[in-house]
Amino acid sequence: MNATSITVAMLPSLLVALAASSYAAAQSFVSDPLVDKVVPYTAIPYQVDQHTADRGPQSGYNICNSTTEGQNSLCQTGYVNHLDDFCLFAPPEPNTVVGSAEGIAVAWCTKPGRGTRLIPEGTLKGIQLVQSPGYVQVAGLIDQTKINIQAGDFGGELDSGGQDGRGNPIGGLIYSNAFPSNGGNNDTFQQSRRWTLFVGNDAFCFKACDDTQPNAKALCEHIYDRIGCTYNAPNTAQEGVFERCDGDDMRPVGQYDGPNNETLTWTQPPESLGPITSVPYTPTPAPSSNCVRYASEDLYSQLNSVSADPAVTGGATASGTRSTGASGSRTSTGSSASNTSGGSGTGNENGAAAAASAMGISVVAGVSSVILSALFLA
Ligand SMILES: *[C@@H]1O[C@H](CO)[C@@H](O)[C@H](O)[C@H]1NC(C)=O
Ligand SMILES: *[C@@H]1O[C@H](CO)[C@@H](O)[C@H](O)[C@H]1NC(C)=O
Ligand SMILES: *[C@@H]1O[C@H](CO)[C@@H](O)[C@H](O)[C@H]1NC(C)=O
Ligand SMILES: *[C@@H]1O[C@H](CO)[C@@H](O)[C@H](O)[C@H]1NC(C)=O
Repeated sequence: MNATSITVAMLPSLLVALAASSYAAAQSFVSDPLVDKVVPYTAIPYQVDQHTADRGPQSGYNICNSTTEGQNSLCQTGYVNHLDDFCLFAPPEPNTVVGSAEGIAVAWCTKPGRGTRLIPEGTLKGIQLVQSPGYVQVAGLIDQTKINIQAGDFGGELDSGGQDGRGNPIGGLIYSNAFPSNGGNNDTFQQSRRWTLFVGNDAFCFKACDDTQPNAKALCEHIYDRIGCTYNAPNTAQEGVFERCDGDDMRPVGQYDGPNNETLTWTQPPESLGPITSVPYTPTPAPSSNCVRYASEDLYSQLNSVSADPAVTGGATASGTRSTGASGSRTSTGSSASNTSGGSGTGNENGAAAAASAMGISVVAGVSSVILSALFLA
């Protein structure tokens, strides 16, 4: 059984589920889309989006500081910097389906000091950062319930485009200090106006493209919102592995070789045509090198004992009935900055490992229903 046959066989039922949870209402496209807004890090406005019609005003804010920091933060400015330093956008309220909160998602980060929420302890199960000429990509396996995403939700795509050009979240800004054009200085931040973040099904992939590179638009194309990380950000993230790699740029989403070795482009059909029943190619992660693995304690110790619950982390108001659970033992393996080789390999012992295989397209090993469902995170 090869990956292609799995894909074709499984797409219909999975994508029906996706379509049901995605936000499809038509909106008028704004004349000043978010991708065109050049916002230097030193000149971030309170809210970058000033519209009030259609989807309403921006729900949070972009100026984020010590007064906004905590698990009630509505900060909508995030970062994709390093393996130990990135953010996700996720719903502000517990037990939420991504598709219903895409416009109002807020930043959850691995480091304090940015005026955001912190990613709760135990959320990050395995993370892979790949630094490529055109982008920084971080992908991983997570316990999505810890960042307010409903268990079992297939999730959706957040990006700087959106149905109306206002972005998802509306007004969401992304910065990085890791682009080569930034000169390796961690203290200066460059805006990424082209980025995509797929989150759901206990996984995510976040790609922030370097606007100074000529192919930023193609590498961070946001129109393939129904085919998930597998196609939009091919990667080899695995449970229990925390690694940073250098990589080549991926092939732009949708491009593949035709029968005469010509480049063809597949475009995602509109939802009105029904479920996607086949995609004519199987993506593979771009070549990567210089991967270095770390112990999660060495990366995320500042998240120890952080909870989603504002009451636990010093926020102003507690929000109802979160059962925070015992914090207890950390289970990361390996020592600092060493190659903790081995990795699991078979990828079919449990859900998370299977999801890792799916994210990395190593579908040939360990075919299970969990892998199949993980393939179509979108
Ligand atoms: C801190 O952030 C809040 C919310 O964006 C903003 O209203 C306030 O002016 C900021 N404070 C400073 C000192 O920048
Ligand atoms: C930037 O920060 C990362 C960790 O977030 C660190 O590994 C790297 O050494 C820093 N770079 C410099 C130039 O300090
Ligand atoms: C296909 O085209 C690429 C360049 O686009 C070339 O490197 C490769 O050798 C070609 N393969 C075959 C089988 O012709
Ligand atoms: C880690 O292992 C990879 C191969 O798995 C190797 O290419 C790399 O050089 C190793 N890194 C270190 C720091 O040993």
